[in-house]
Formats: sequence, structure tokens, C-alpha cells
Amino acid sequence: MQAITPRKKLASSIAIIIAGMCMNTVGFAQQTTVTVETKQNALVLQTDKDNRLDIAYFGARLANTGDYTSIASQYTGGLVGSGTYNNAYTPAGSWNLLEPAITVIQGDGNTSLDLKYVSSATKKLDDNVSMTSVVLKDNLYPVEVTLFYKVYYNENVVEQWSVIKNNGDKPIKMQKYASANLYFRAGNYYLTHYNGEWAQEMKPEEDHLEHGVKSIDTKLGTRADLFEPPSFMISLNKPATEDEGEVLLANLAWTGNYKIDFEVDPSNNLRVIAGINPYASEYTLAGGKDFTTPALIYTLSQHGKGEASRNLHRWATKYRLVDGEGQRLTLLNNWESTYFNFDENKLTELFKGAKDLGVDMFLLDDGWFANKYPRNSDFAGLGDWQENVKKLPHGIGYLVKQAEAAGVKFGIWVEPEMVNPKSELYETHKDWVIRQPERPEKYFRNQLVLDLSNPDVQNFVFSILDSLFIKNPTLAFIKWDCNAVIYNAHSMYLEKQGLPETHLYVDYVKGLYKVLERLRTKYPKVPMMLCSGGGARVDYGALQYFTEYWPSDNTDPLERIFIQWENSYFFPVIASCNHITDWGKQPLKFRTDVAMMGKMGYDIVVNKLSAQDLAFSQQAVQTYKAISGVVWHGDMYRLVNPWQNPVASSMFVSEEKSRAIMFTYLVSNRYMPAATTLPIQLKGLDPQKKYTVNEINLYPGTHSSFSGNNTFSGDFLMKIGINPNINAGRASVVLEINETK
Ligand code: DGJ
Repeated sequence: MQAITPRKKLASSIAIIIAGMCMNTVGFAQQTTVTVETKQNALVLQTDKDNRLDIAYFGARLANTGDYTSIASQYTGGLVGSGTYNNAYTPAGSWNLLEPAITVIQGDGNTSLDLKYVSSATKKLDDNVSMTSVVLKDNLYPVEVTLFYKVYYNENVVEQWSVIKNNGDKPIKMQKYASANLYFRAGNYYLTHYNGEWAQEMKPEEDHLEHGVKSIDTKLGTRADLFEPPSFMISLNKPATEDEGEVLLANLAWTGNYKIDFEVDPSNNLRVIAGINPYASEYTLAGGKDFTTPALIYTLSQHGKGEASRNLHRWATKYRLVDGEGQRLTLLNNWESTYFNFDENKLTELFKGAKDLGVDMFLLDDGWFANKYPRNSDFAGLGDWQENVKKLPHGIGYLVKQAEAAGVKFGIWVEPEMVNPKSELYETHKDWVIRQPERPEKYFRNQLVLDLSNPDVQNFVFSILDSLFIKNPTLAFIKWDCNAVIYNAHSMYLEKQGLPETHLYVDYVKGLYKVLERLRTKYPKVPMMLCSGGGARVDYGALQYFTEYWPSDNTDPLERIFIQWENSYFFPVIASCNHITDWGKQPLKFRTDVAMMGKMGYDIVVNKLSAQDLAFSQQAVQTYKAISGVVWHGDMYRLVNPWQNPVASSMFVSEEKSRAIMFTYLVSNRYMPAATTLPIQLKGLDPQKKYTVNEINLYPGTHSSFSGNNTFSGDFLMKIGINPNINAGRASVVLEINETK
């Protein structure tokens, strides 16, 4: 018999392990495969030899369902001693070596968890939507996790979340409790994520992901988007472009602290773990209780970011936004024209302006409330939601009637989650405020956040809106603002209940959702804007209660082109509130054209407009009403990227491809006699159809080369294109493209 030297011994054990691995992947006797399929994609889950659930595949679906079981055997990465990296919900403290999806301290203090596959089921909810659930259990400790995959087949969107259950008697402590754990196999991974600040939202960065963990997160408590929103893209192999490349677009549906980990593992594959931020958020789960995580919403496309974004748009308008397939109100807001300085007379004058302009509604902004500490600046009054008797002696009811008499609806601003220390609410209910009693208070915009983990505070917040509606049943719109972050995260309520402080960040958001749920049950249809001064506050958790959101206080149209461009990857433009204001140096037409690419509104003093500007704006409102159906409900195609070109161009195409609206803007102020020297190729039209192209929204006295009989085939418009002739004197152009027989 030949002696085995240490070196030979190592080689032979490698051979045994590899043989064992092969047997596991080809010997399928015990293997369970769960396939989650959309029209284009498949996520394939498979049990391993130890009955743990792994992700075998996530990508374009295969023609033969039977082929999914053969995928895993083709991936040979993972050497001796390496662990399993592709678990479908990676537990900590047992076999795992990398970033976990779930970390638990058991009732007896033990820190281990191991989840094994138990069962799975798929329910068809309707012709398009189905729900797959997979139950995993620890054999040693009474912890059960169910992974949920809600599939929107035609939209190629998956909503994934987890329910963690403590089946024992003793409480367990969850230190990390992710919503989703995904796995990608590709040659390279590119992460697009965003950063921002007040008035500088949605600045994209694309990183080539290297080995190790890259995370994006927020610890702000409220208004997650201020520094880093919970939206991201992952391109596989190479950076995706608008129409090419495999790319995932995702958003975590949670209006609070989140964390998303991107880990390139030792086998060069990408692990993605998304969920509530574990930061200061250890959550205790009593015996018999369960915890539902928020959902990660994602779509995968093999044809670039454009298709992926249209998937999300179709899903959001059909299934997520309030009245996503409905109409929106054009409006005149008074914030930038008055700030806090108004009274009844000034407002009734503004109503006339709204009517004159032709918009549907007047929106009364901040400053209408509080008496002991009047809301005349942002230093006082927040929390005291009674009309200020000096400014509004006859109350909101009178204003609603006056607006309606002037021919416009009336909407109102609130910021119900917040309080100024200079307020009666603070004086009487300090216990409702998030603060550390022993530490100096720290303010953000001179205000503090109310403790929505407290049911009394939830009732209070609900009653602010409820009593406005009870007193004013025709109130047509709510602007729900949120301007502070959470400092000194301490809840007197949780303390009194004997609950851990570390529940606050989570229970705050749950409390907010409870209030919004109650509101929507009682007032299902009222349009509501989700607003947050800087940074916006936009995620699919909150958006299920809102019709629209405020992308930025920065309404400079040049800036807005970029902010709106990036937001439009994740959110349909029907939800994007674009207001025409005095920000920026561009002419009124440019500002109006940019605002039209979404939900248009005004924040100007109408009676200060010149006669020509007023005539243009009145016409623009009518034009917008005529085209908004296509902009809101059509398919969006991005044509020219402003980050790489001196112009930006996008178009919206109706479902039947019979009508389209194309917006093109100059975004460079460098000297260039013509910014569009080449035609711009259109997208999404029917090559067989014939279309006329006309310029619309012209400023009075200007003429267009497109006003004649410009007829082209869809084939021509998509292969050759059309030149909107953008130059410094013609900095924005809106073209209407109509099918002609
Ligand atoms: C911040 C919002 O973004 C503004 O539009 C305005 O409503 C102010 N808050 C009011 O305080």
C-alpha cells in the first residue's frame, strides 16, 4: 500500500469533497426546487444536501422548466473549506461565514440559528399576480421564517419579504432581520446608488463592486432619502445602458432606517441583503409572536434600464400608488409666493390667480395655524393645529368656500409628525416627543419628531387630518410634509411599557403606517402629496398611501431635469410633483416644459406675471390637460441622457402607440450654435404607423419649423429620428407625435 504524504493527503481529500459536491448536485433524489417566474425572469430556489435552501439561479427564464434543476451543476466556484454563499435567507451563528440576512439571540442566550427547508406553496391571486411562500425552520430552536415572493407576472416585478416567527415561550432578540437575500452570478457587478442633500437630491454614483461588503443605508429615522435613498440598480457583467444590459432596479418599501449590503463573495458572485437597518434596532419578539419585514420591490431586465423602469412604472401605477391609473389635479401653491406672510384677503386674491391660470386647485401651505405661538416662522407653532385667528379669523371652512366660489378646489399643508418646542403641544405633551430627557435637545429646522410608537400620538396625528376632513368635507388635497430627522432616539412611551428603546426606529414607521392606513380606510381617494423639504421622502412603503411625492425643494428647471430623470427610473412621473416657480435663470417656457414632464403645478404670484407670460401659462395649462393622459399613463422612453450630452430628451408613448409627447431641453450653457446637430431617434412607436410631428407649448409670438405638415413613418422616426433644433434661443421643445391614417 502506498503511503499518503501530507500533500497527497490534501489532494485526495479535495478529490473526495469535489466528488461529494458533484454527487450532491447531480444526485437530486431529495432535492426540492421552487421556481418563482415572471414573464421574463426566473428565480430558482433549491435545497442542498442538508436541506438548506439556496438560490440556484436568478436571471432570464429558460424555455424548459425542467432545465432549472441542471443549473447548479454548471457552477463550480467554491473551493475546499468554502461555505455556502447562495443561501436564500442566510442565518448567523451556525455554518455561515459571510454577511447574514438574519441574526438572532435565542431565548436562552444562544446566538446560533440554522434554517432548513420545510415546505412551499404557490397561490394564484388573479390572472397576473401570484404568491409563493417558503417555510424554513430551525430544528434546534423554535424559530420559523417564511419567505414571501409576490409575483406580478406581466410587469416582471417581485415583491419579496419575510415573516419571522418565535414559536417558543421565551422572547428572542432579532439583531438583523432582512427582507430579502438575493444572489447573482456574473463576471462583474456595477452598483448605481444615490446621494443627496437639501436641494441636491438623487445624484447617481456607479461603483464597480469589488470583493468585500459595500452598504448603503440611512440612520435618519424619518425621510430616508435626504442622504441616500433606498433605491438602487445593479448591472451585471457591464454597466447597463438605457436599452442594453442585464440590470436589476429595486426599492426597499420602508419609510425609515434601511440597510442594503452588497457583498462580492469568495466565488466572485454577488450577495444582496436588503432590509430594515439593524443600527440601534435590536427587536425583541415575544413567544408566539411574528414580525413581518417590509418588502424589497425589484425588477430584472435583460434590455437595459429603460425597460426595467417601465416595468416598475406599470407595476406602481396599477398596484401601488393611490389612484395610479387615475387623474391628478393641477394646482397653485402659495409657499414661495407668501411663505408665512399671508392673511385671508391675500389668500382670496390668490384664489383668483389660480382660477385665472386655469388650474384645478389652490394649495394653502405652511403658516395657517397656532395661536399662543403663531406659526409666523419655522421657529414656532408646529403641533398646534388650530387656525391662527389673526391670519384666518373665519377659519379654513371660510377659505374652502371662498376658493370654491372662485372656481377652484382647496387643499392644505400639514406636517403632523412634528412639533416645535415653542408650541402648546410641547408644553402639554413633552412625553409625546422623541428626546433624551437627560440630554440637551437637538433640532432639525427648529423642530422635533413626535413619538409615533405611542398609540396616543397615532390617534393625535390621525385626528389632525380627520377633523380637517370632518369640518371641511370638500377638502380636495393634502400636502403631508416631514422636515426633521430623529436625533436622541428615545421614547418615553416604550420606556413606560417596559419595551426596549431599540424598538423605536421600527415602531415609529409602523405607527406612521397605522395612521396612514386608518386615513386611507376612511378617505380612500383624497389625493395626498408625500413631501419632505430636502431630500424628498419617496419609497414604495409610503407611496401605497399617497398619490404623489415632492422630489426636491430645488425647482430650478435645469436641476430638476437631472433630479426628475433619476427619480423616473424608480417612480412613474404621474407621481412626481413638478412645480413652476421663480427658481433658476431659464425662461418661463423652459420651466413650464420641465414641469410638464410629470405632475405639473405652480408656485408663483399669478398677478405679477406679464400679460404675455400669463397668456402663455393659461395656454400651457390647457395644453398640459390635453397631453397629460399620455405623460401620466404612457410608456416612458429616455432618448438622450443629460449627464453625457448637452441636451436631455425623453418621450411618452400611449399604449396603442398612436400618440407620443417628446420633451427636449438644453442642459449646457457652453457656446454651441446648435445643441442638436443630429436627429434624436425616437422609441416605442409602431414602425408601420405614420405620424405627424407638431411642436406644442410655444411661447406667444414664436414660430416653429414643426408647425407644418410633418409626416413620417414610425420606422423613420425610430431609425433616423427627428431633430428638435435645440439651441440657446430654443432651449426647450415639446413635440406632439400623432398617428395619421
Ligand atoms: C418644505 C416643503 O418642501 C416646502 O414646499 C414647504 O411646504 C415648506 N416645507 C413649508 O414649511
